[in-house]
Amino acid sequence: MSDQGKMDCGRRRLIVATAAVGGVGVAATAVPFVASMLPSERAKAAGAPVEADISKLEPGQMMVVEWRGKPVWILRRTPEMLATLPQLDGEVSDPESKKEQQPKYCTNAARALKPELFVAIGICTHLGCSPSSKFKPGASEGMTADWKGGFLCPCHGSTFDFAGRVFKEKPAPTNLEIPPHRYLSDTRILIGEDTQGA
Ligand code: FES
Repeated sequence: MSDQGKMDCGRRRLIVATAAVGGVGVAATAVPFVASMLPSERAKAAGAPVEADISKLEPGQMMVVEWRGKPVWILRRTPEMLATLPQLDGEVSDPESKKEQQPKYCTNAARALKPELFVAIGICTHLGCSPSSKFKPGASEGMTADWKGGFLCPCHGSTFDFAGRVFKEKPAPTNLEIPPHRYLSDTRILIGEDTQGA
């Protein structure tokens, strides 16, 4: 089989995301994860784009794929999650994402190519810990009563909304980074490559 063939084969290999990305801080969350795809070891070492099947990703669910050794979150946001974003513009430090932590095509209110699908590198921009999912609004997951849902970094308490925008007066200096990506179809996404220029 050619090298390209091996690579394609590797991409199709199904794994369970939670098992494959051990050590990236996803185990502590109650958010259900679904199967994802990873490239072959050779492709990963080369930093190849990673293809993911999002067909089974339900609203409110997040999956994690590994790209260049980093966890990349893919969250299918619900209408309720999206509705929190404009409400938080005054509480986050860079509401319009002016610090360029994302490709230009994600410099919009949802920080996404498709509003319902949030793609981000799950590494805190302070000192690199893995934020935890805190999707339930209110105090039920140890957050404050006015919490609208998002992510909490367990290391020094930075909080992020459902677009990865960091709240004001937190240690993290910028919003979460969004990797280059593009959609191959409605159900397949390629992380690490785009056609619009990052
Ligand atoms: S590493 Fe996330 S707040 Fe410090």
